[in-house]
Formats: sequence, C-alpha cells, structure tokens
Amino acid sequence: MNNKLKIGIIGLGTVGQGVYKVLKNFDDIEIVSCAVKNLNKKREVEVNNLTDDVMSIAKNPDVDVVVEVAGGIGVFDALKEAIKNGKHIVTANKELLARHGAELFDLAKKYNTAILYEAAVAGGIPIILPIKTSLAANKFSKVAGILNGTTNYILTKMEEENLSYEDCLAKAQKLGYAETDPTGDVEGFDAMYKIAILANIVFDKRIDVNKIYREGITKISAQDIKIADELGYKIKLIAQAKTFNDDENTLDIRVHPMLVDKNNSISDIRNATNAVMLNGFPVDKVMFVGPGAGEFPTASSVVGDILAIKAENHRKDDVLPMMGCKHESYANQISIEETKNCYYLRIKADNTPGEIGKIGTACGEYKINLSCIIQRELDTKGDATIIVITEKCLEKDMNSMITSIEKDSKTKVLNKIRVM
Ligand SMILES: NC(=O)c1ccc[n+]([C@@H]2O[C@H](COP(=O)([O-])OP(=O)(O)OC[C@H]3O[C@@H](n4cnc5c(N)ncnc54)[C@H](OP(=O)(O)O)[C@@H]3O)[C@@H](O)[C@H]2O)c1
Repeated sequence: MNNKLKIGIIGLGTVGQGVYKVLKNFDDIEIVSCAVKNLNKKREVEVNNLTDDVMSIAKNPDVDVVVEVAGGIGVFDALKEAIKNGKHIVTANKELLARHGAELFDLAKKYNTAILYEAAVAGGIPIILPIKTSLAANKFSKVAGILNGTTNYILTKMEEENLSYEDCLAKAQKLGYAETDPTGDVEGFDAMYKIAILANIVFDKRIDVNKIYREGITKISAQDIKIADELGYKIKLIAQAKTFNDDENTLDIRVHPMLVDKNNSISDIRNATNAVMLNGFPVDKVMFVGPGAGEFPTASSVVGDILAIKAENHRKDDVLPMMGCKHESYANQISIEETKNCYYLRIKADNTPGEIGKIGTACGEYKINLSCIIQRELDTKGDATIIVITEKCLEKDMNSMITSIEKDSKTKVLNKIRVM
C-alpha cells in the first residue's frame, strides 16, 4: 500500500526551493505538483510537475497537504478551495494569516483540516508549537521580540560600523537581506503581521491587524545610535503585545524602535537573528533565539509542520487538535495614545541660555518626570542638540508637551524613541 504523504507546493522561491530540497530526504513524502507564477523562470531545483494554475493544486484529489510558500494575499482563494477539498495547509505566509487568518481557521474547523504555520512568525525558530504545547499551562502577560532580521541587520551595522541608515540599507540589499522595495521590512509591516499572529495564540484572542500601532526604523539616525550607545542603550525594532492594566481581554500591541538597556539580553541579538521573549505564569520568562529567515531555516519549520501532519494523517477526526484555533472573540486593542512609556527625545534648539529650562518647564506642565537632560555639541548650523530621557508618562501627554515646545519655531523634536 502506498502510504506516502502527498504534497502540493505553491511557490518555488527562496523558501519553496528550500522546502523542495529538504523534502527530497524523505522517502515517505511525495511532491505531486508545484505552482509558480512564471513557468519559464530558471530555478535551482529541477521540477517536472510544474504549473502556473494554483487552483489545480487546491483541487487535485491526489494532494493531502498544500504547502503555501508564495506569500501575499493572492493565494487566499486557492487556500480556501484547498480546505474545502479536505486538504491540510502548511503556510509561511504571515500577511495572509494576520489579515485573513480568522476566515481560514473557521473554514478549517468546518472541514476538519489542520493549518500549521510555524515558519510564519520567526522563520527557523520554533515558537508556535512550544506555545501551543510545552507552554500550554501558562497565562501570559507579554510577548515581545525582534521579529524582523532585515531591520535588525541594518541597526546592527549602523551601530557597529558607524554608518548611516541609507548605507546600511544598501549593504543589506547587496547581501540579499533586504528586498529592492524594502518597505515591508523597514516600515515595520512584516513585524506587525508576526506580532499579530503571536498575540493571537499567546492571548487566545482574535486580533485586528489594522489597530496595531506601527513605526519603522527609517527615522533612526547614526546620531541616535551613537547617543544611545553612550547612554548605555542599543536601538532595536521591538514588536510587543501585552495585557493592559492586568485586563487579559485588553491588549497593547505595537511595533516601533526602542532604546534597549545593554543589560537586557535582547540588546545582544545581532544582525539578522530573531528573538522572542515570553512572560507568563508559571514559567516566568523564556526567550527563543535563532535564524528568523533564510532558505533552510525557514524550510526547517515548514518541513517540521509537514511531518507533524504526516504523523497524524491516519486520523479521520481532529488532526493535531492542540494546534487548532479555539478562540472566536476579538481582543480590545488600546491605541498608542493611551499607553505609558519612557521616552528618548533628540531636540534641536536655539543655542541661547534658558533652552533646557524651557523644556524642563514644559515637561513639568504635563507631569512628565525627567531621568536625564543633556546638551550635546552644537550642530553644523550652530544649533544646540538637547537629549532628554523621561520617566514613564502617557503618550498623549508626551505628544502635547512636544507640540507645546515646538510652538517656538526654533525648537524641533527631531526624534522620539520609546525606551524599553
Ligand atoms: N524568505 C524567507 O526567509 C522567509 C522566512 C519566513 C517566511 N517567509 C514567507 O514565505 C513566503 C515565501 O517567501 P519567499 O521569500 O520564498 O518568496 P519568493 O522568493 O518571492 O518566492 C515566491 C514564490 O511564489 C511564487 N508565486 C507568487 N505568487 C504566486 C501565485 N499567485 N501563484 C503561483 N505562484 C506564485 C513565485 O513564482 P515565480 O518564482 O514564478 O515568481 C515564487 O516562486 C512568504 O509568505 C514569506 O513571507 C519567507
């Protein structure tokens, strides 16, 4: 009897070809068909059964599992069709899951199929399965991490080689760490999709990705990195989701750069490496570190999911019940204006006596306590650079304070970065 698991792969790019190569090591898995956009493109793997018709894979009665490593929203209909045809799904597509996961999981429940997505959040780092199984006893209060390798690579190079954002982006593009259009990474969209998926499973709630606050790294200057370093911090793009005021139904979810104290182990995560930290009871704190992307690390997670399905494919009832989606209600998501944070401000001001006093007075008016205020060397135009680090205060008070000091046309807050 042929008991091979039969696979259809949608997408043969970086991840798809990695999956194809790794699957060749498994005699009990057969790749029935692969779909791509451009049939004439040269590829590293030689594939006979290639098609540009994704629906043919979704409807193929010989396919048990559809592996979707194409990306984007364009494959949504094909995945829905595959589920309706009783196929299990393995996907690395964070955008599709973050935007349309609810519909896919509802459908999968109806048709009794599994959707596994270990590769979608942190590439090669196992995180979904540990949260759903080994850490299932926990009530979590926070999940946070460095979820985008491209931006972490750029920030590491800015810090270690004292280069501008633009130079480091060009370097990342040359090495294949950043795409020609880097918007998805540098503006924080990629990390936003990933934290939406993580928040979803960590807090057992559906998440509206459109309500997640997002800020990328494009405004971080070499000067911010240098000043932060002198003050004992590194700058990292942090994605985080936490309960708000101890209410487990209300979540504060966001992605933005942060000053991270050098004593915090997340500040040591360099280059394209990713890290995920979880706080929960009874485990306390755990951190997962590893390659967040790349052909083989990502294939490791995708193939792991395929093998998990293979191990249970004989069951006709619930396949991998612990991996299913149990929640149906949406979390209350608070706006960034309602959050409390410590802040780093880099301010340009006139080089005249009393400027620091004016900033101190404005902070006092909005009940913002200062941790530190220092004046740096003058810039090339003779203006003063003043650095402020505050204690925790409301984001809306901070914004009002900034509006107030900027009423003086010679004063400008050049950057505001939250402190972890
Ligand atoms: N790259 C990573 O390290 C990494 C890590 C974790 C997760 N992911 C996720 O994995 C997925 C794939 O990423 P990737 O880097 O491998 O992308 P990629 O290199 O751009 O490859 C995408 C592949 O999908 C095919 N494709 C795209 N749209 C299609 C459609 N509508 N129908 C049929 N084929 C289609 C493309 O065909 P052609 O080759 O003919 O153009 C290509 O083979 C994405 O969701 C990404 O977010 C990637």
